[in-house]
Parts: sequence; structure tokens; C-alpha cells
Amino acid sequence: MEEQDVRSNLKVLLTRDQIRARVQELGKRITRDYRDKNLVLVGVLKGAFVFLSDLARAIDLPLEIDFLGLSSYGASTKTSGVVKITHDLTQPIEDKDVVVVEDIVDTGLTLSYLMENFKTRHPKSIKLCTLLYKPSNTIKKVPLEYVGFEIEDKFVIGYGLDLAEKYRNLPYIGYLEDDTKQGGDS
Ligand code: IMP
Ligand code: MG
Repeated sequence: MEEQDVRSNLKVLLTRDQIRARVQELGKRITRDYRDKNLVLVGVLKGAFVFLSDLARAIDLPLEIDFLGLSSYGASTKTSGVVKITHDLTQPIEDKDVVVVEDIVDTGLTLSYLMENFKTRHPKSIKLCTLLYKPSNTIKKVPLEYVGFEIEDKFVIGYGLDLAEKYRNLPYIGYLEDDTKQGGDS
């Protein structure tokens, strides 16, 4: 069966220019905060790959990049709270200054699991950076140091975020008008 292309029914929430400007600001702040530190950016796959690639280039420091694959939703349409590591870091983070880079914080369950897991690896410091934050759905409150945009409770896609694994490549962030919550991989 042919799947429908939803792009013509999308409303734009954040344009590529808005995103670009905000990512530059976050990059400048991180550059200031991490001078003379041992910065490693850890992107949470898959959603953070676009944000991380732009953010990393907006930071003027000799940083390291690593990725962690997490799956939080399983097949159901609501978050289960069950988080699974599908791809682990390739380097130790012991004594490093870690900034975790996420696409979106919704319930907070994914990042709170990740924080607990990372603390056992003894980094020197650990801070969280998310492009989007939906405060209305919080179950676990996590300390967010760098937030791109606070948004309403809408299911958003594009700039790394997927709808059933598609549309991660949209250069802007959009939402469907009659949205029903969708599950997917992180
Ligand atoms: P959490 O509920 O904070 O644990 O978020 C889990 C993950 O769900 C995020 O990292 C995203 O990958 C995904 N997610 C949450 N809200 C959305 C959305 O609006 N669009 C696409 N993915 C989402
Ligand atoms: Mg994610």
C-alpha cells in the first residue's frame, strides 16, 4: 500500500532561519562555557543527528563527538518509560565534560535514564542540551542547561525528528494539524 506524503498537510512551527539563528546562539554559549574544558558532545540517535551536526559546527572549540542509540517508545503510541541502549558510546567519558545533545524532551524519561546511566561512568561534568522542550508532558524533570525552543504539546517532525522513521530530512520543523501521538525510535 502506498503511504501518504504528509508534507503538504504540514504547518511550519520553526523555519530553517529560526533554527539556524538559535543554533548559532547555543553554539556561542557552549563555546564560552567550555573554554579550557574537555568537551565531548554525545548525540542521542537517531533524532539528534541533524541538530548535533549544526551545533558542533557552531562551537569554536576542539571537541569530541560520540553517539548513543536509545529507543524509548517501542511500538506503542505512548511512552512506556522503558529505555533501551541500541548503540553504546565508542569512547569512555571518564573525566570528560559531557554535553548530551537531544532533539526533543517530552516526558523526560529518556534523558533521566541516560543521566543515571552516564553518572556510573564518572564524567567530570554532564549537562543536557535539547533543541525542543515540551514542558506540558513532563513526567521526570531533568535539569536542562541549553534549550533551543519551548514548544506546545504537538507532534513535530523534521530537522531530525521522525514520523514513523520518515521526514527526518526536512530542513524545518513542522506539525500535522490533526495530530495523534506517534511512537518511534529516539
Ligand atoms: P521523552 O518522552 O522525553 O523520553 O522523549 C523520547 C523521545 O521521543 C524523544 O527523544 C524523541 O525521539 C521522541 N519524541 C517525543 N516527542 C516527539 C515529537 O513530537 N516528534 C518526534 N519525536 C518525538
Ligand atoms: Mg530523541
